[in-house]
Amino acid sequence: MSRFFARSFEDYKSLYQESTNTPETFWGEFAKESFSWIKPWDSVLEHDLKKPQVSWFAGAQLNITENCIDRHLEKDGNKTAIIFEPNAVDEKAKYITYAELSVAVNKTANLLKSLGVKKGDRICLYMPMVPELAYAVLACARIGAIHSVVFAGFSAKSLADRINDAACKLVLTADGGYRGSKITPLKAITDDALTQCPTIEHVVVLKRTNQKVSMLEGRDIWWHDLYDQQSGNCPVEVMDAEDPLFILYTSGSTGQPKGMVHTCAGYMVYTNFSFRNVFQYQPNDVYWCTADIGWITGHSYIVYGPLSAGATTVMFEGVPSYPDMGRFWQVVEKHKVNILYTAPTAIRALAKCDLSLVTQHDLSSLKTLGTVGEPINKEAWEWYDQNIGKSQCPIVDTWWQTETGGILISPLSGITETIPTFATLPLPGVQPCLMDDNGNEIDEQNAEGKLCIKFPWPSMARTIYGNHKRFKETYYSAFPGLYFTGDGAKRDQNGNYRITGRVDDVVIVSGHNLGTAEIENIIDEHEAVTEAAVVGYPHDIKGNSIYAFVTLSDAHQTKDAKALEQNIKQLVSNTLGPISKPEIIQFCSGLPKTRSGKIMRRILRKVAANELDAFGDISTLLNPECVQEIVDNRKNEMR
Ligand code: PRX
Repeated sequence: MSRFFARSFEDYKSLYQESTNTPETFWGEFAKESFSWIKPWDSVLEHDLKKPQVSWFAGAQLNITENCIDRHLEKDGNKTAIIFEPNAVDEKAKYITYAELSVAVNKTANLLKSLGVKKGDRICLYMPMVPELAYAVLACARIGAIHSVVFAGFSAKSLADRINDAACKLVLTADGGYRGSKITPLKAITDDALTQCPTIEHVVVLKRTNQKVSMLEGRDIWWHDLYDQQSGNCPVEVMDAEDPLFILYTSGSTGQPKGMVHTCAGYMVYTNFSFRNVFQYQPNDVYWCTADIGWITGHSYIVYGPLSAGATTVMFEGVPSYPDMGRFWQVVEKHKVNILYTAPTAIRALAKCDLSLVTQHDLSSLKTLGTVGEPINKEAWEWYDQNIGKSQCPIVDTWWQTETGGILISPLSGITETIPTFATLPLPGVQPCLMDDNGNEIDEQNAEGKLCIKFPWPSMARTIYGNHKRFKETYYSAFPGLYFTGDGAKRDQNGNYRITGRVDDVVIVSGHNLGTAEIENIIDEHEAVTEAAVVGYPHDIKGNSIYAFVTLSDAHQTKDAKALEQNIKQLVSNTLGPISKPEIIQFCSGLPKTRSGKIMRRILRKVAANELDAFGDISTLLNPECVQEIVDNRKNEMR
């Protein structure tokens, strides 16, 4: 058993010490013993966080798919790599072995090559959660194409923006995607997006739902027409350690989403390391992460981390509420899941349901539970612990980000202590710190501040695609020389971290990262709207929800407010996708502003959270009178 996987708290402490005292030796030895390399590195780490410029394993050559697939074939070719659980309960699950995965990925890679895809080309994947999505991700990696997976709940505009930002050459999509009782018309949405995407040469369409779709001659091709003719052997492209592996978009505090770039070697090394340490994965465990591959959680902990560890990973096409709110527990029982990794928002929704939906299923296979994406409140943590884990399963509350590539702060299952609402301790190799508003590091253990990371870790994002300046400004300028996470955190006397939430204009709704500026821009486009300010407010199930304060042009003041409200919600939903839709819209005659014209979102956040006093001094505002009106009209509906 590798010494790099902690088996006791003592192990954890000594690995942590070693990783901070001699990081290069630590990561170098781990990387050497754990992966196949085509060529070894010249140096483990070169970095200058002020620039920022970081390279891990420079000079090395590899292909991540050789590590996720080929090297398992001899010993574990017949082991199940992916268990596919379809949306419908009466459709058969698929058990895809590593040998079958190899053939499918190689054929998909050859399919891409047959369309002229080459190393460095950007490929957009806009697909349902079916095995072909995993094949496509890995096929891109095999031939060195850079995948950009766009979550299948996103709208045509969001898809078009992402395709254009990366100048993608190809889109892979499906006729439709099952989501509970609904079908998302993925091809129709893609068609709509592509009216604005000049770089796309072809669309490859997977048949999944058998909807009628229109196929544009010369551009659109059925997946099976190409796939069936391909050979199951596609040699790997030799990749440099720092070649990009993928781009994944995340919302920022301006309207434009940020294409985070992750690179081959460091990402591979750290997702494997964190997967095995945090979940304490054992060779025959069945592991299920309920995220979508459209998010970083799916990239790192459905595909790359588990597969590079030779694990069995469950891919679920459906939603927790279909055909009823017991679906998760039915799937756990059916596949004898040992490790379940899900989101607090799902836990809160499921905790509201009749407990018989849980108790009718045998959950005794479970050993470890995990959460990700947002803070988990104590009540939800305890419900998860008692009713799902039967007080026998450690809960790993994993803190990390699209930008970090892998889990940075989390308990290690059964090894380090768990504390409800705390992500607890940093993983080996991770050096967090808390900063005060004056830019000084807070030395006391027991403290609260802005969460930064002091030292590089292998899976950190290297840049924002096409915009290194924005990368530097967003993450490396607030505290020069440190990576600024955008989160606030508390630390207790034992060094355990508790994430308190975002300190910027990003709101986490049901675990999804939404930029308020992007939503404001869309609301502003409505003909009746003069100005909008969007903030998050606490919501029982979703963690946070969106509250929009909107001022209307004179001509629209007297119009039917209810209809207008619906109209604006619909506009946001259609343009950005349903997850961005405001829960509450409050019309007001003015928004509180500073004398320089900046909207005081701090006040609006308090109003939305129903904290209707203690605004501090508002006399310096340009228009303090509007605050009382806003308070008086605070909406309490739909909470
Ligand atoms: O605010 C933190 C919250 O989610 C943000 C990152 O979102 P995203 O890039 O979409 O990645 C989500 C999946 C890794 C963080 O800045 N967050 C994530 N995990 C936790 C969390 N907040 C508290 N506790 C967590 N475990």
